[in-house]
Amino acid sequence: MDVTIQGSSQKFVFPAWINYLLPLVLILGAGGAVYVPSLVGYALNPTTLNVGYAPVQPVPFSHALHAGRLGMDCRYCHTTVESAGFAAIPPTQTCMNCHSTIHNDKVTLAPVRDSHATGKPMEWKKIHDLGDYSYFNHSAHINKGVGCVTCHGRVDTMDVVRQAKNLSMSWCIECHRNPEQHLRPRDQITNMTWDAQVDAGQPQLALGLDLKKKYGVHDAAYMTSCSRCHR
Ligand code: HEC
Ligand code: HEC
Ligand code: HEC
Ligand code: HEC
Ligand code: HEC
Repeated sequence: MDVTIQGSSQKFVFPAWINYLLPLVLILGAGGAVYVPSLVGYALNPTTLNVGYAPVQPVPFSHALHAGRLGMDCRYCHTTVESAGFAAIPPTQTCMNCHSTIHNDKVTLAPVRDSHATGKPMEWKKIHDLGDYSYFNHSAHINKGVGCVTCHGRVDTMDVVRQAKNLSMSWCIECHRNPEQHLRPRDQITNMTWDAQVDAGQPQLALGLDLKKKYGVHDAAYMTSCSRCHR
């Protein structure tokens, strides 16, 4: 079967195993009959495709304040982005490093103090959420020079985090085909305002091609093969 991926000119010829994919997930899904409707529902689910999804959190934690005005690096809290697939959400202790003394009587921080006292983790609502059938890995991107801002937008200006990109397959593929448009030096990974021309004195494309070679980023054929993201 031939499928044209939306927003791209390349045609993918699905390999033979794709014919087995649907029956397979039908079997793997808990109730086989509900899988197909839920796959359709999934594509329309605001938590995955709706840009702007921003649920209310148990505490009005502001990235604009902590990462923006106070200038905290993303990795102070999201400690695993360079070493693991999952970007860890900080434990309550990280908040208490400061809030055991700063604003330690504020009502807004009561759930944080309760969590600290009881040992029950904070129940942060997940915003970005790919389906289980797609595989994503933060460290694979961070270590090859893809910055947080490229995928998450200006988080340092957001009081409430909202999803900046649609996380669709065509969005992933677009970059996997032309990563040089988005690569930056590894030491600028959490810089929200980095610009190739301004900060490195080179056009993005020239710098990106250099970095692609330097970091050993694979070619488009490898990067767009189905098994990269569906394993
Ligand atoms: C002081 C700790 C702290 C710092 C610093 C911080 N974050 Fe966060 N981040 C959190 C917490 C807590 C949450 C969960 C609550 C929320 O969504 O606001 C979160 C959530 C997120 C989410 C949404 C996760 C999801 O559920 O999908 C993204 C994306 C994110 N942070 C990116 C960043 C980036 C990029 C930076 C640096 C510019 C950064 N964060 C700096 C604590 C922090
Ligand atoms: C490095 C220190 C530091 C860490 C770590 C930190 N904060 Fe803060 N936070 C501050 C400071 C400083 C302010 C107050 C800024 C001001 O009032 O101008 C603040 C303000 C707040 C406020 C606003 C309180 C109010 O009602 O005015 C909330 C809510 C908050 N932080 C939640 C969190 C949470 C949740 C975490 C952990 C994920 C966290 N903070 C981690 C330093 C920190
Ligand atoms: C190539 C795009 C990309 C880059 C670069 C990226 N993220 Fe993400 N991020 C995602 C996607 C996609 C998800 C959803 C993953 C899932 O649901 O499996 C996500 C989820 C998250 C989450 C929620 C926890 C999780 O892992 O699901 C946090 C927190 C986060 N990112 C923070 C960051 C920070 C901080 C950086 C920079 C150091 C960063 N991200 C760089 C695409 C990216
Ligand atoms: C802005 C560019 C960009 C976006 C957007 C992006 N990626 Fe990537 N991705 C990369 C680069 C660069 C690499 C590193 C490739 C390498 O090491 O050769 C990578 C590597 C990966 C890897 C590891 C591949 C391997 O086996 O080594 C996976 C898995 C992956 N990406 C999945 C995704 C998924 C799923 C999405 C969409 C939700 C996505 N990526 C979005 C640029 C991007
Ligand atoms: C760079 C990562 C990446 C590559 C490569 C990739 N996909 Fe996907 N694919 C995704 C993501 C992410 C989604 C989920 C999009 C969403 O949440 O709706 C997805 C969704 C799908 C779906 C579910 C239906 C749909 O459209 O949502 C199918 C089927 C699929 N991909 C097949 C393939 C096949 C076949 C290939 C090889 C030609 C392929 N994918 C290559 C990331 C990728």
